[in-house]
Amino acid sequence: MNHLSDARETVLKASRSYYSHLGYCEERTRTETTKHELDFLEFVFRTHATHKVRDVLDVACGSGRHILGLAHRGYKCTGQDYTLDQVQIAKARAKREGVSVKLLQGDATKLKYESKFDAVLALYVLFLLPDDDCVLACMRQVYRALKSGGIMVCNIANPFYEGENWFSLKSIQHGHYFNEIRVPGMRYISFDRVQDFDPLHGVAWWQETHVIEVPDGVHIFLEHERLRLFTYWEVLHYLQVAGFKKIKCYLDWKIKPSRKPKAEWLVFVSRKD
Ligand SMILES: C[S@@+](CC[C@H](N)C(=O)[O-])C[C@H]1O[C@@H](n2cnc3c(N)ncnc32)[C@H](O)[C@@H]1O
Repeated sequence: MNHLSDARETVLKASRSYYSHLGYCEERTRTETTKHELDFLEFVFRTHATHKVRDVLDVACGSGRHILGLAHRGYKCTGQDYTLDQVQIAKARAKREGVSVKLLQGDATKLKYESKFDAVLALYVLFLLPDDDCVLACMRQVYRALKSGGIMVCNIANPFYEGENWFSLKSIQHGHYFNEIRVPGMRYISFDRVQDFDPLHGVAWWQETHVIEVPDGVHIFLEHERLRLFTYWEVLHYLQVAGFKKIKCYLDWKIKPSRKPKAEWLVFVSRKD
């Protein structure tokens, strides 16, 4: 093995290690949030789809918290993610939990399905796609992948959110964001620094340092992230251009309409007619 392939293997191992640590952390810290989001998803399936939702696709499933959760609740599930390490973590988790989910590596902007699914999820991902053409391509392909009467559920972080979060304009203008999570057997610290911010196009570039302290040592990972700060109107417009006509926006995964204008998360439910 030459130096280059040695180095490549080291990087791949680090990334596998990063995602498996992250998956471990997520399973322990986001249980309640995920349960709430799953209840919300089942509510919108019942309320917005014109027929019973059975077949569900998650186009960026990560380590599988939504798609595995839905499989546990009896749905026929397919999950895909661009990052192979994430898919492998999701597969291991599905095996451990004894739940059947089809899991594949795949790009959310290169979906090949046609009239196949009753519901398609694109959660916590649109703002990470490389540019707006990719976002529109993803929405168009989701539209094509849906059966008539089926629904797409996607969400964006609200840049006008006034609290502390890595996507808020407040943190971006501040220049950095710090977060610490403790779960049994692990301390997870992330320190994110704004590398650049383009206020005209609504794009921020973050440089992230993740420190994971576990009994076998301290692991440090560096990452870069491009974050598109979408507004409500932009997402609504792209969904309409993609072909969706019935679109409803929920605030912060809440079923009840809220008057709170500066929600943290905007969740769009769009039906293909
Ligand atoms: C913040 S995570 C969200 C994962 C999952 N939806 C959740 O809510 O836990 C974003 C995920 O999007 C994936 N991703 C980024 N770009 C993608 C693309 N073009 N196609 C598919 N997945 C993508 C990443 O690999 C990562 O797993």
